[in-house]
Amino acid sequence: MKKLKLVLTMVTAAFVLLLTACGTSETSGENGGKSEEKTLRVVTDAAYAPFEYLDKGEVTGFSVDFINAVAKQAGYKVKIENVGWDPLFVEIEGKTADLAISSITINDKRKKTYDFTVPYFLSTNKIMVPKESPIKSAGDLKGKTVAVQNGTTGQEAVEKMFGAENKNLKKFENNNLAIMELKSGGADAVVADNTVVEEYVKNNPKDNLVVIEDTNAFEKEFYGVLFPKGSKLRGEFDKAIKEIMENGEYAKVYKKWFNIEPDLTDIKA
Ligand code: ARG
Repeated sequence: MKKLKLVLTMVTAAFVLLLTACGTSETSGENGGKSEEKTLRVVTDAAYAPFEYLDKGEVTGFSVDFINAVAKQAGYKVKIENVGWDPLFVEIEGKTADLAISSITINDKRKKTYDFTVPYFLSTNKIMVPKESPIKSAGDLKGKTVAVQNGTTGQEAVEKMFGAENKNLKKFENNNLAIMELKSGGADAVVADNTVVEEYVKNNPKDNLVVIEDTNAFEKEFYGVLFPKGSKLRGEFDKAIKEIMENGEYAKVYKKWFNIEPDLTDIKA
């Protein structure tokens, strides 16, 4: 009986070893062949429709299709995980993830700690308010309660206008919570990326919200894919992004989500 147990343990051990060996050879990609695509760990904050959001528990959106197209072009597979906004930066800095895609604006502050690819999307902050709101421009936000996602360029822009000590600024872990605060009357406005608030207003007509543009208050921003500083993958992804912009793949993904042809002049400038 004892002998049988020993044999069984040995067989199991051998099997586990074999599995581990297969696993490593599959992901090591050392010979760099297309047949052995390495799977990269991608992190995101999936509460930013239509870019990245959860649909029946699956991360979906423009960013998902875009990064899949880029990775494929570069010869990689990706596995996207919804970890949240603040944690995604921690993961990239700590190199526990290979890259992040999350409508992340390229800016100098972030560039000190992380590397970005070339820009792939043009954006700007806009203001979302109830239809009957007296707020008509960014200046009107003075003294009003503004809901933003913590650690975003939206937060930064509002703080720049009214000071970082602004007591009327409500910061949330994700943008959906900021929108909920507006809907429940706990805030007078939400400041977030234009495509996100525009899409929200369009898809939720019963909420009676409108979007206000103020080009004097909010700058043009560009999204980039975020990498740990010094990541060797960054160059490969830069190349792949440029290639899918040339070969029509980018336009295909863009049209699927926005129903129009992309204007690449701004992005490439
Ligand atoms: N573009 C803005 C920024 O980089 C907001 C991005 C928020 N993204 C998200 N998935 N919640 O600060």
